[in-house]
Amino acid sequence: MQAFSEYKTLVCSEREKRANFHTMLSCVLPRPIAFVSTVSADGLPNLAPFSFFNGVGSSPPAIVFSPATKADGTDKDTLVNLREVPEMVVQVVPYAMRDAMNQASAAYERDVNEFEAAGFTALPSRFVKPPRVAESPVQMECKLLDIVKVGEGPLSANICIGEILCFHVADDFLLENDTVDVDKIDLVGRMGGEWYSRMTDRFELPKPSAP
Ligand SMILES: Cc1cc2nc3c(=O)[nH]c(=O)nc-3n(C[C@H](O)[C@H](O)[C@H](O)COP(=O)(O)O)c2cc1C
Repeated sequence: MQAFSEYKTLVCSEREKRANFHTMLSCVLPRPIAFVSTVSADGLPNLAPFSFFNGVGSSPPAIVFSPATKADGTDKDTLVNLREVPEMVVQVVPYAMRDAMNQASAAYERDVNEFEAAGFTALPSRFVKPPRVAESPVQMECKLLDIVKVGEGPLSANICIGEILCFHVADDFLLENDTVDVDKIDLVGRMGGEWYSRMTDRFELPKPSAP
């Protein structure tokens, strides 16, 4: 292992917002992708991917993801929907779904159903109003616990905290102990720019014991 001695320090408060965004995306990676379905108050479904996403607890089981405020200062449809109907389904994104997931990230008008626009099949959920995505092997029905705003205006974060009410795991991917078969699931991660990663290069690291 090498210790580094020369660094360039990029002071965030002295840089353009976009520059901080791109530097962060190129070093906080690979990021898991939440493919999030929501519905508007009048029941129109919406789908969009978010890589500012992670699991953050297990009592209750919880996730966070963050739809940023848009460059024009308005909110993304996912966030508008969550304020109207505080429920969502978070699905995982395997390699086979990459093109359709990417298509769903296009800036569609609010009245467009992205299930139809990107070619996904909607399945009814058990506990929440937003439908599930049948093409994803794992779907998590969630209720919104809170939206935490970080900053103001364009590119600011709106951290949506969700409690997972149930996991739906496709039979082909479910192991006997009710975990998911990571050898099979082939999820993609988001990197910087237009790059993604796959789970094809893994290693095991046993837990150390304290001396
Ligand atoms: C893989 C991927 C990850 C993304 N992650 C985020 C994210 O974490 N936050 C965000 O605001 N936008 C993210 N986007 C862009 C949104 O998906 C895009 O703005 C989308 O149109 C939002 O949809 P909505 O307006 O229907 O909510 C991502 C796009 C892709 C393709």
